[in-house]
Amino acid sequence: MELIKVNTKHSGVEITNDMLTAAAKANSLLHSGEGAGNDFLGWVNLPSSISDEHLAEVKAVAKKLRERADVVICIGIGGSYLGAKAVLEAMSNSFESLKRKHDNPTVVFAGENISEDYTYELMDAVKDYSIAAIVISKSGTTTEPAIAFRLIKAEIERRYGKAEAAERIVAITDKARGALKTLATQEGYPTFIIEDNVGGRYSVLSPVGLLPLAVAGVDVDAFVEGARDMERLTGEDTPIEKNPAAHYAIVRNELYKRGKKIEILGSYEPKLQYIAEWWKQLYGESEGKEGKGIFPASVTLTADLHSMGQYIQEGERTLFETIISVKNSKYEVKVEADDANLDGLNFLTGKRLSEINKMAELGVRIAHVDGGVPNLSIDIERIDERTIGQLLYFFEKGCGISGYMLGVNPFNQPGVEAYKKNMFALLDKPGYEEESKAIKARL
Ligand code: PA5
Repeated sequence: MELIKVNTKHSGVEITNDMLTAAAKANSLLHSGEGAGNDFLGWVNLPSSISDEHLAEVKAVAKKLRERADVVICIGIGGSYLGAKAVLEAMSNSFESLKRKHDNPTVVFAGENISEDYTYELMDAVKDYSIAAIVISKSGTTTEPAIAFRLIKAEIERRYGKAEAAERIVAITDKARGALKTLATQEGYPTFIIEDNVGGRYSVLSPVGLLPLAVAGVDVDAFVEGARDMERLTGEDTPIEKNPAAHYAIVRNELYKRGKKIEILGSYEPKLQYIAEWWKQLYGESEGKEGKGIFPASVTLTADLHSMGQYIQEGERTLFETIISVKNSKYEVKVEADDANLDGLNFLTGKRLSEINKMAELGVRIAHVDGGVPNLSIDIERIDERTIGQLLYFFEKGCGISGYMLGVNPFNQPGVEAYKKNMFALLDKPGYEEESKAIKARL
């Protein structure tokens, strides 16, 4: 099995023994549990601790939903949304919605916004389909998914009655606390637990990611196997110089010290766009604190060369770029000959689009490096479940190591609370009377 590799050749960083020692120390803290946020390290050995029984249970519940529903609405936000969305996008046909025959139920997402129009259009779009829902919230108290769930639960109960609703709704939440747990117990919903020591953005390998993916027909066994590959390769038994997550963490921290404050994650495969969204949450929430942290941004290429390309090439020199480089396409499409050759493209006749795409990638890399944008690449063989499993665990491990090297707690997110307080005050939530007066006076 080919493993993903990190290519640092164009990063401008020479990895020294001191850097390796610092990364090894950070990696050890993740394994010994002696670092900051050590009550949230359940993800470190999560892939290898997933039992066959657990996977079988996830698949059995997924099967029930698949049998009952044409559309499964997956409700959650942040870490309770982005992992499943990212893997699903990566594994799906880009034009699934145009296909006439669907082997799998369609998984759609809700609760990741409070948009009235999005919610209306979702409810309208599913009205002629049989529906089910997976509601995901570790805390069980997050406002956005709670609002969406209230509406979707009511719709399911109206259509099928309360008893059948309990066959069509699955909850994924904390084992004891939170309104969702209370509600799930009371209504008799099948429930999966998110362990206390697995934080939201590190939870894609828990039922938070696995159940929606299994419902959508993704091979979750291969996905977990891929994560296990990377758990082994980035574990303490692997010498640090062979640990790709350590290399990634070292280079990005070194570039940050040199003033490269923005990391752009890019790919030449549009179906990896949501992997970048998931990555942004992982790195942004884990490192952006105490006035520190690389700002995670993303581009989809070559499309964004025609929008962001100018800035990347010549704008402020605070950027570096990490490219997820995919070696093999799944399908083959070649440029055809054209007798008239009015577009002047006959020199490409017979070439595969993947070859042209690769030359674009290599050309852009050198152009950006020449323009002062260091480049890292994460090389993957192909887009399949096993490789994506490797990639996501690689990023998680890289984030844990990188956060410790930066000197922050990569497992908390204290800053996320500020907006919630203001929103509740503005909505006159009971208990927020003082804050309500104060904030309204400032508007
Ligand atoms: O990483 C995190 O912990 C957060 O992004 C959460 O996933 C997000 O806020 C959703 O929280 P919850 O699952 O409690 O609804």
